[in-house]
Amino acid sequence: MTKTNIILDCDPGHDDAIALLLSCYSEKLNLLAVATCAGNQTIDKTSRNALNLLNFFNKSDVPLAKGSSHPLEREIQTCPEIHGESGLDGFTFPLYKEKYDYRKGYQLIIDTLLENEDVTVITTGPMTNLALAILHNPKITKNIKEIVLMGGSTTEGNITKAAEFNILVDPEAANICFTSGVPLRMLGLNVTRQILVTDEVIEKANAIHTRGSDLFVKLMKVFNENQRNFFGLSAGPLHDPATIVSLINEDVFEFEDMNVTIDISHSDQAGKTICSKEKLPHNVKVATKVNVGLYWEEIYKHLRRCK
Ligand code: RIB
Ligand code: CA
Repeated sequence: MTKTNIILDCDPGHDDAIALLLSCYSEKLNLLAVATCAGNQTIDKTSRNALNLLNFFNKSDVPLAKGSSHPLEREIQTCPEIHGESGLDGFTFPLYKEKYDYRKGYQLIIDTLLENEDVTVITTGPMTNLALAILHNPKITKNIKEIVLMGGSTTEGNITKAAEFNILVDPEAANICFTSGVPLRMLGLNVTRQILVTDEVIEKANAIHTRGSDLFVKLMKVFNENQRNFFGLSAGPLHDPATIVSLINEDVFEFEDMNVTIDISHSDQAGKTICSKEKLPHNVKVATKVNVGLYWEEIYKHLRRCK
């Protein structure tokens, strides 16, 4: 079976961590490189978390590069209320040696795309690194099979009424990616907020008894507590793994072709993903439905593999 080449650009972050676990343990994916960005926490913290996770998943051989510490034009926003002071509160890793790729995140993305063809680029944080890569070397767009992002929404935002966090932090970067001509697949809050880490999910994961399930349970207990306190949600939505699940099991999500533009104003609409089926061109496949039961089956399957 031919594996799909992927690059993961992320801001770990509790949900990013599970997206990275699936990327490492899926038999259908070939994780070529990881780049980190500031978002859920500062760049040093998201990078340290990504390094810990790759070592924990026995994938320290995958190139990991620190990306941008701030958005293209706007001030950085972080989210310690949800992800804690470390950006990944709830789990203590062994002390791994700190070793990052010598390149910046955007350069690692450029070089990986030039060395490989048909690469799917997945973003689960602000899109700054990918936008910088496209700005520095526009030719790379022909090597990108698809951009698959967790971000945006066909309905409301989560940080403002209009905008979802990943797009709100860097609307200019999202705009560069959404107008790049590269095929896009957007998994937004309208579907990811249906995927809740309920007590039943945690119980089922807890019964798996692997290193991966132990990591999941410990992280999700903190994630849920923070989601309850900050957003008043009954359980945390597990946003980011939706990108990976959509690649490894096409039965989980349904998509509709839409025209999606990004509000790059400085109004209260900033960062909104404006979705239309009527307008053209249809530049994005937008997730509109999710089979939640199948989603969790994929998560449990990969937790079992992380022995
Ligand atoms: O709005 C949810 C997104 O913002 C997720 O990617 C989460 O990890 C944060 O980055
Ligand atoms: Ca994220």
